[in-house]
Amino acid sequence: MSMVTMEFDPRKLARREVLDLPVYSPGKSPEQVAREYGIADCVKMASNENPLGPSPKAVEAMARSLSTVNLYPDPVCTQLREAIAGKLGLGPENVLVGHGADEVFDLLAYAFLERGDEVVLGDPTFSSYELAALTMGARVIRVPLRDYRQDVESMANAVGPHCKAVFLCSPHNPTGTLVEEEELVYLLNRVVGNCLVVLDEAYIEYVEEDFFWDSLKYLEENPNLLIARTFSKVYGLAGLRVGYAICSPSVREILEKVKLPFNVNRIAQVAALAALEDEQHVLRSREANKKGKRQVCAVLDELGLEYVPSHANFILVKDPGWGDLSERLLRQGVIVRDGTALGVPGHVRITIGDEAQNERLIAALRRSAGEGS
Ligand SMILES: Cc1ncc(COP(=O)(O)O)c(C=O)c1O
Repeated sequence: MSMVTMEFDPRKLARREVLDLPVYSPGKSPEQVAREYGIADCVKMASNENPLGPSPKAVEAMARSLSTVNLYPDPVCTQLREAIAGKLGLGPENVLVGHGADEVFDLLAYAFLERGDEVVLGDPTFSSYELAALTMGARVIRVPLRDYRQDVESMANAVGPHCKAVFLCSPHNPTGTLVEEEELVYLLNRVVGNCLVVLDEAYIEYVEEDFFWDSLKYLEENPNLLIARTFSKVYGLAGLRVGYAICSPSVREILEKVKLPFNVNRIAQVAALAALEDEQHVLRSREANKKGKRQVCAVLDELGLEYVPSHANFILVKDPGWGDLSERLLRQGVIVRDGTALGVPGHVRITIGDEAQNERLIAALRRSAGEGS
Protein backbone atom coordinates (compact mmCIF):
# COMPACT_ATOMS: atom_id res chain seq x y z
CA MET A 1 0.00 0.00 0.00
CA SER A 2 1.49 3.32 -1.00
CA MET A 3 1.44 6.23 1.39
CA VAL A 4 -0.03 9.41 0.03
CA THR A 5 1.30 12.40 1.82
CA MET A 6 -1.16 15.17 1.73
CA GLU A 7 -0.08 18.67 2.26
CA PHE A 8 -2.89 19.90 4.40
CA ASP A 9 -2.83 23.48 5.62
CA PRO A 10 -5.99 24.62 7.40
CA ARG A 11 -4.71 28.18 7.25
CA LYS A 12 -5.28 28.04 3.50
CA LEU A 13 -8.89 27.01 4.09
CA ALA A 14 -9.72 29.53 6.79
CA ARG A 15 -11.29 32.88 6.08
CA ARG A 16 -8.79 35.72 6.28
CA GLU A 17 -10.69 37.53 9.01
CA VAL A 18 -10.60 34.39 11.13
CA LEU A 19 -6.83 34.08 10.79
CA ASP A 20 -6.48 37.71 11.84
CA LEU A 21 -8.56 37.31 15.02
CA PRO A 22 -6.83 38.12 18.28
CA VAL A 23 -6.64 35.19 20.67
CA TYR A 24 -8.71 35.64 23.82
CA SER A 25 -6.43 35.68 26.83
CA PRO A 26 -8.17 34.50 29.98
CA GLY A 27 -6.81 35.42 33.41
CA LYS A 28 -4.76 32.97 35.43
CA SER A 29 -6.60 30.06 37.03
CA PRO A 30 -6.10 29.26 40.74
CA GLU A 31 -4.39 25.99 39.68
CA GLN A 32 -1.92 27.89 37.51
CA VAL A 33 -1.15 30.40 40.29
CA ALA A 34 -0.82 27.56 42.79
CA ARG A 35 1.75 25.91 40.52
CA GLU A 36 3.67 29.06 39.55
CA TYR A 37 3.73 30.74 42.95
CA GLY A 38 3.50 27.74 45.24
CA ILE A 39 0.36 29.09 46.92
CA ALA A 40 -2.25 26.45 47.64
CA ASP A 41 -5.20 28.58 48.71
CA CYS A 42 -5.57 31.24 46.03
CA VAL A 43 -8.69 33.34 45.72
CA LYS A 44 -9.96 34.29 42.29
CA MET A 45 -11.34 37.80 42.10
CA ALA A 46 -10.92 38.22 38.39
CA SER A 47 -13.97 37.10 36.42
CA ASN A 48 -16.89 38.99 37.98
CA GLU A 49 -18.62 35.79 39.08
CA ASN A 50 -21.06 35.62 41.99
CA PRO A 51 -19.02 34.61 45.07
CA LEU A 52 -22.17 33.36 46.86
CA GLY A 53 -22.60 30.66 44.23
CA PRO A 54 -25.80 29.67 42.45
CA SER A 55 -29.24 29.88 44.02
CA PRO A 56 -29.85 26.74 46.14
CA LYS A 57 -33.20 26.49 44.38
CA ALA A 58 -31.41 26.35 41.03
CA VAL A 59 -29.16 23.59 42.37
CA GLU A 60 -32.20 21.57 43.51
CA ALA A 61 -33.93 22.08 40.18
CA MET A 62 -30.82 20.89 38.33
CA ALA A 63 -30.54 17.82 40.55
CA ARG A 64 -34.17 16.94 39.85
CA SER A 65 -33.59 17.24 36.09
CA LEU A 66 -30.41 15.25 35.75
CA SER A 67 -32.16 12.04 34.78
CA THR A 68 -33.90 13.72 31.84
CA VAL A 69 -30.79 14.59 29.86
CA ASN A 70 -31.49 11.78 27.40
CA LEU A 71 -34.05 14.19 25.95
CA TYR A 72 -33.22 17.19 23.80
CA PRO A 73 -33.98 20.55 25.35
CA ASP A 74 -36.78 22.87 24.29
CA PRO A 75 -35.23 24.61 21.27
CA VAL A 76 -36.90 27.93 22.00
CA CYS A 77 -36.80 27.88 25.82
CA THR A 78 -40.58 28.37 26.04
CA GLN A 79 -40.95 28.36 29.82
CA LEU A 80 -37.85 30.39 30.51
CA ARG A 81 -38.73 32.97 27.88
CA GLU A 82 -42.22 33.30 29.31
CA ALA A 83 -40.83 33.72 32.80
CA ILE A 84 -38.26 36.33 31.74
CA ALA A 85 -40.79 38.23 29.66
CA GLY A 86 -43.39 38.06 32.44
CA LYS A 87 -40.94 39.51 34.92
CA LEU A 88 -40.09 42.34 32.55
CA GLY A 89 -43.68 43.10 31.54
CA LEU A 90 -43.03 42.04 27.95
CA GLY A 91 -44.11 39.14 25.74
CA PRO A 92 -42.07 36.01 24.98
CA GLU A 93 -41.80 37.26 21.41
CA ASN A 94 -39.46 39.93 22.81
CA VAL A 95 -37.00 37.45 24.32
CA LEU A 96 -34.36 35.20 22.80
CA VAL A 97 -32.33 32.99 25.12
CA GLY A 98 -28.73 32.34 24.22
CA HIS A 99 -25.77 30.25 25.34
CA GLY A 100 -24.69 33.17 27.48
CA ALA A 101 -25.03 36.81 26.43
CA ASP A 102 -21.90 36.06 24.42
CA GLU A 103 -23.98 33.97 22.04
CA VAL A 104 -26.38 36.85 21.59
CA PHE A 105 -23.49 39.01 20.32
CA ASP A 106 -22.37 36.19 18.02
CA LEU A 107 -25.89 35.75 16.64
CA LEU A 108 -26.11 39.46 15.99
CA ALA A 109 -22.88 39.28 14.06
CA TYR A 110 -23.84 36.15 12.06
CA ALA A 111 -27.21 37.60 11.17
CA PHE A 112 -26.35 41.19 10.41
CA LEU A 113 -22.65 41.70 9.67
CA GLU A 114 -20.44 41.06 6.69
CA ARG A 115 -17.31 42.50 5.15
CA GLY A 116 -17.76 46.19 4.45
CA ASP A 117 -20.04 46.75 7.44
CA GLU A 118 -19.02 48.72 10.48
CA VAL A 119 -19.75 48.60 14.19
CA VAL A 120 -19.06 51.29 16.76
CA LEU A 121 -18.00 50.51 20.31
CA GLY A 122 -16.20 52.01 23.28
CA ASP A 123 -12.46 51.67 23.70
CA PRO A 124 -12.01 49.74 25.82
CA THR A 125 -15.13 47.69 26.31
CA PHE A 126 -16.18 44.08 26.81
CA SER A 127 -14.24 42.09 24.21
CA SER A 128 -17.00 39.85 22.81
CA TYR A 129 -18.60 42.55 20.64
CA GLU A 130 -15.38 43.16 18.78
CA LEU A 131 -14.55 39.48 18.38
CA ALA A 132 -18.00 38.72 16.97
CA ALA A 133 -17.80 41.62 14.52
CA LEU A 134 -14.26 40.82 13.40
CA THR A 135 -15.16 37.18 12.83
CA MET A 136 -17.67 38.30 10.24
CA GLY A 137 -15.18 40.66 8.61
CA ALA A 138 -16.83 43.87 9.80
CA ARG A 139 -14.73 46.93 10.56
CA VAL A 140 -14.63 47.94 14.19
CA ILE A 141 -14.62 51.63 15.01
CA ARG A 142 -13.36 52.15 18.55
CA VAL A 143 -14.31 55.34 20.33
CA PRO A 144 -12.10 56.15 23.32
CA LEU A 145 -13.76 56.48 26.71
CA ARG A 146 -13.80 59.89 28.38
CA ASP A 147 -13.15 59.89 32.09
CA TYR A 148 -13.79 56.14 32.10
CA ARG A 149 -17.25 56.65 30.55
CA GLN A 150 -18.53 55.78 27.10
CA ASP A 151 -18.62 58.96 25.03
CA VAL A 152 -22.02 58.64 23.34
CA GLU A 153 -21.69 61.87 21.40
CA SER A 154 -18.46 60.77 19.74
CA MET A 155 -19.95 57.30 19.26
CA ALA A 156 -22.94 58.82 17.46
CA ASN A 157 -20.56 60.92 15.34
CA ALA A 158 -18.72 57.73 14.36
CA VAL A 159 -21.86 56.14 12.91
CA GLY A 160 -21.60 56.26 9.14
CA PRO A 161 -23.71 54.81 6.33
CA HIS A 162 -22.09 51.36 6.68
CA CYS A 163 -22.59 51.09 10.42
CA LYS A 164 -24.92 48.28 11.43
CA ALA A 165 -24.57 48.33 15.21
CA VAL A 166 -23.46 50.54 18.09
CA PHE A 167 -22.54 48.69 21.29
CA LEU A 168 -23.04 50.26 24.70
CA CYS A 169 -22.28 48.49 27.94
CA SER A 170 -23.95 49.58 31.19
CA PRO A 171 -22.60 49.07 33.78
CA HIS A 172 -19.53 49.15 31.63
CA ASN A 173 -16.89 46.45 31.76
CA PRO A 174 -14.09 47.08 32.77
CA THR A 175 -14.82 50.47 34.39
CA GLY A 176 -18.14 49.91 36.18
CA THR A 177 -19.57 53.24 34.96
CA LEU A 178 -23.18 53.69 33.87
CA VAL A 179 -24.73 54.97 30.67
CA GLU A 180 -27.19 57.64 31.77
CA GLU A 181 -30.77 57.54 30.53
CA GLU A 182 -30.41 60.78 28.57
CA GLU A 183 -27.33 59.34 26.88
CA LEU A 184 -29.25 56.32 25.58
CA VAL A 185 -32.07 58.59 24.41
CA TYR A 186 -29.54 60.85 22.69
CA LEU A 187 -27.97 57.90 20.89
CA LEU A 188 -31.32 56.45 19.88
CA ASN A 189 -32.28 59.81 18.41
CA ARG A 190 -29.00 60.17 16.55
CA VAL A 191 -28.84 56.60 15.22
CA VAL A 192 -31.53 56.55 12.60
CA GLY A 193 -32.01 54.17 9.72
CA ASN A 194 -30.91 50.57 9.63
CA CYS A 195 -28.55 50.40 12.54
CA LEU A 196 -28.93 48.51 15.80
CA VAL A 197 -28.25 49.98 19.22
CA VAL A 198 -27.10 47.18 21.50
CA LEU A 199 -27.17 47.86 25.22
CA ASP A 200 -25.35 45.21 27.24
CA GLU A 201 -26.75 45.15 30.78
CA ALA A 202 -24.96 42.06 32.08
CA TYR A 203 -24.46 43.73 35.49
CA ILE A 204 -27.73 45.69 35.66
CA GLU A 205 -29.01 43.85 38.75
CA TYR A 206 -26.13 45.29 40.77
CA VAL A 207 -27.12 48.90 40.08
CA GLU A 208 -28.48 50.47 43.24
CA GLU A 209 -31.96 51.95 43.24
CA ASP A 210 -30.85 55.58 43.29
CA PHE A 211 -28.97 55.13 40.04
CA PHE A 212 -31.18 52.61 38.25
CA TRP A 213 -33.26 53.66 35.26
CA ASP A 214 -35.36 51.39 33.08
CA SER A 215 -34.05 50.92 29.54
CA LEU A 216 -36.89 48.56 28.61
CA LYS A 217 -39.35 51.37 28.13
CA TYR A 218 -37.47 52.48 25.01
CA LEU A 219 -37.98 49.16 23.22
CA GLU A 220 -41.43 49.84 21.90
CA GLU A 221 -40.55 53.05 20.11
CA ASN A 222 -37.12 51.88 19.02
CA PRO A 223 -37.31 48.53 17.24
CA ASN A 224 -33.56 48.81 16.57
CA LEU A 225 -32.77 48.62 20.32
CA LEU A 226 -31.56 45.29 21.69
CA ILE A 227 -30.81 44.81 25.38
CA ALA A 228 -28.62 41.91 26.47
CA ARG A 229 -28.72 40.42 29.98
CA THR A 230 -27.35 37.29 31.60
CA PHE A 231 -27.69 34.65 34.30
CA SER A 232 -23.90 34.62 34.70
CA LYS A 233 -23.56 37.47 37.16
CA VAL A 234 -26.04 38.14 39.98
CA TYR A 235 -27.82 34.81 39.29
CA GLY A 236 -24.56 32.92 39.77
CA LEU A 237 -24.90 30.58 36.78
CA ALA A 238 -21.84 31.55 34.70
CA GLY A 239 -20.83 27.92 34.25
CA LEU A 240 -24.16 27.01 32.65
CA ARG A 241 -24.05 29.69 29.94
CA VAL A 242 -27.45 31.36 29.83
CA GLY A 243 -28.01 34.91 28.64
CA TYR A 244 -30.75 36.60 26.70
CA ALA A 245 -31.68 39.33 24.26
CA ILE A 246 -34.67 41.58 24.79
CA CYS A 247 -35.68 43.08 21.47
CA SER A 248 -38.40 43.62 18.92
CA PRO A 249 -40.07 40.46 17.58
CA SER A 250 -38.73 41.26 14.10
CA VAL A 251 -35.12 41.25 15.34
CA ARG A 252 -35.73 38.12 17.41
CA GLU A 253 -37.09 36.24 14.39
CA ILE A 254 -33.89 36.95 12.46
CA LEU A 255 -31.65 35.93 15.36
CA GLU A 256 -33.65 32.70 15.77
CA LYS A 257 -32.73 31.75 12.21
CA VAL A 258 -29.01 31.66 12.91
CA LYS A 259 -28.98 30.06 16.34
CA LEU A 260 -28.31 26.38 16.80
CA PRO A 261 -31.58 24.51 17.42
CA PHE A 262 -30.62 23.33 20.91
CA ASN A 263 -28.39 26.18 22.02
CA VAL A 264 -29.41 26.17 25.70
CA ASN A 265 -29.24 22.77 27.40
CA ARG A 266 -32.01 21.29 29.57
CA ILE A 267 -30.17 21.69 32.85
CA ALA A 268 -29.36 25.30 32.09
CA GLN A 269 -32.99 26.04 31.24
CA VAL A 270 -34.40 24.61 34.49
CA ALA A 271 -31.67 26.23 36.57
CA ALA A 272 -32.23 29.66 35.04
CA LEU A 273 -35.97 29.34 35.60
CA ALA A 274 -35.48 28.48 39.27
CA ALA A 275 -32.83 31.20 39.70
CA LEU A 276 -35.16 33.78 38.22
CA GLU A 277 -37.79 32.91 40.79
CA ASP A 278 -35.37 32.96 43.73
CA GLU A 279 -35.55 36.65 44.48
CA GLN A 280 -34.04 36.10 47.92
CA HIS A 281 -30.80 34.88 46.41
CA VAL A 282 -30.63 37.89 44.12
CA LEU A 283 -31.24 40.19 47.08
CA ARG A 284 -28.60 38.43 49.17
CA SER A 285 -26.12 38.66 46.31
CA ARG A 286 -26.80 42.33 45.73
CA GLU A 287 -26.48 43.12 49.44
CA ALA A 288 -23.26 41.15 49.82
CA ASN A 289 -21.82 42.97 46.82
CA LYS A 290 -22.86 46.37 48.13
CA LYS A 291 -21.35 45.68 51.54
CA GLY A 292 -18.17 44.17 50.12
CA LYS A 293 -17.70 47.00 47.65
CA ARG A 294 -18.09 49.57 50.40
CA GLN A 295 -15.56 47.74 52.57
CA VAL A 296 -13.00 47.40 49.77
CA CYS A 297 -13.47 51.03 48.68
CA ALA A 298 -12.92 52.23 52.25
CA VAL A 299 -9.56 50.46 52.32
CA LEU A 300 -8.62 51.78 48.85
CA ASP A 301 -9.41 55.30 50.12
CA GLU A 302 -7.39 54.74 53.25
CA LEU A 303 -4.39 53.53 51.24
CA GLY A 304 -4.73 56.41 48.79
CA LEU A 305 -5.37 54.08 45.84
CA GLU A 306 -7.46 55.66 43.10
CA TYR A 307 -10.37 53.74 41.61
CA VAL A 308 -13.40 54.30 39.40
CA PRO A 309 -16.66 54.39 41.41
CA SER A 310 -18.41 51.23 40.26
CA HIS A 311 -22.04 50.25 39.70
CA ALA A 312 -21.15 46.60 39.15
CA ASN A 313 -19.54 43.75 41.10
CA PHE A 314 -15.98 44.77 40.33
CA ILE A 315 -13.78 47.82 40.74
CA LEU A 316 -11.17 49.23 38.39
CA VAL A 317 -8.23 50.32 40.51
CA LYS A 318 -5.37 52.49 39.28
CA ASP A 319 -1.87 51.20 39.83
CA PRO A 320 -0.28 54.02 41.83
CA GLY A 321 2.91 53.92 39.79
CA TRP A 322 4.22 50.65 41.22
CA GLY A 323 3.76 49.08 37.80
CA ASP A 324 3.02 45.68 39.29
CA LEU A 325 -0.13 45.93 41.40
CA SER A 326 -1.66 42.78 39.89
CA GLU A 327 1.62 40.91 40.37
CA ARG A 328 1.88 42.02 44.03
CA LEU A 329 -1.63 40.69 44.68
CA LEU A 330 -0.94 37.53 42.73
CA ARG A 331 2.15 36.77 44.81
CA GLN A 332 -0.16 36.77 47.82
CA GLY A 333 -2.61 34.40 46.18
CA VAL A 334 -5.17 37.01 45.16
CA ILE A 335 -5.94 36.68 41.47
CA VAL A 336 -7.19 39.89 39.87
CA ARG A 337 -7.38 40.91 36.21
CA ASP A 338 -4.52 43.02 34.94
CA GLY A 339 -5.80 46.02 33.00
CA THR A 340 -3.41 45.52 30.09
CA ALA A 341 -5.47 42.59 28.78
CA LEU A 342 -8.62 44.67 29.19
CA GLY A 343 -7.38 47.73 27.32
CA VAL A 344 -6.66 49.77 30.47
CA PRO A 345 -2.96 49.35 31.18
CA GLY A 346 -1.89 50.70 34.55
CA HIS A 347 -5.06 49.41 36.22
CA VAL A 348 -6.36 46.20 37.73
CA ARG A 349 -9.95 45.03 37.77
CA ILE A 350 -10.92 43.42 41.04
CA THR A 351 -14.13 41.42 41.49
CA ILE A 352 -15.87 41.87 44.82
CA GLY A 353 -15.73 38.55 46.66
CA ASP A 354 -17.42 37.01 49.68
CA GLU A 355 -16.39 38.17 53.14
CA ALA A 356 -13.36 35.90 53.41
CA GLN A 357 -12.14 36.76 49.91
CA ASN A 358 -12.55 40.48 50.54
CA GLU A 359 -10.58 40.17 53.80
CA ARG A 360 -7.86 38.35 51.93
CA LEU A 361 -7.79 41.06 49.26
CA ILE A 362 -7.69 43.82 51.87
CA ALA A 363 -4.77 42.19 53.67
CA ALA A 364 -2.93 41.79 50.35
CA LEU A 365 -3.61 45.42 49.41
CA ARG A 366 -2.27 46.61 52.76
CA ARG A 367 0.85 44.49 52.40
CA SER A 368 1.34 45.66 48.80
CA ALA A 369 1.09 49.28 49.93
CA GLY A 370 3.59 48.55 52.68
CA GLU A 371 6.07 47.31 50.09
CA GLY A 372 6.04 50.87 48.67
CA SER A 373 7.18 51.86 45.20
C1 LIG B 1 -20.31 43.26 29.98
C2 LIG B 1 -20.45 41.79 29.83
N1 LIG B 1 -21.35 41.31 28.97
C3 LIG B 1 -21.51 39.99 28.79
C4 LIG B 1 -20.74 39.09 29.49
C5 LIG B 1 -20.86 37.63 29.20
O1 LIG B 1 -22.02 37.12 29.69
P1 LIG B 1 -22.33 35.58 29.49
O2 LIG B 1 -21.60 34.84 30.55
O3 LIG B 1 -23.82 35.54 29.63
O4 LIG B 1 -21.88 35.19 28.11
C6 LIG B 1 -19.80 39.53 30.41
C7 LIG B 1 -18.96 38.57 31.14
O5 LIG B 1 -18.05 38.86 31.81
C8 LIG B 1 -19.64 40.92 30.57
O6 LIG B 1 -18.73 41.41 31.40
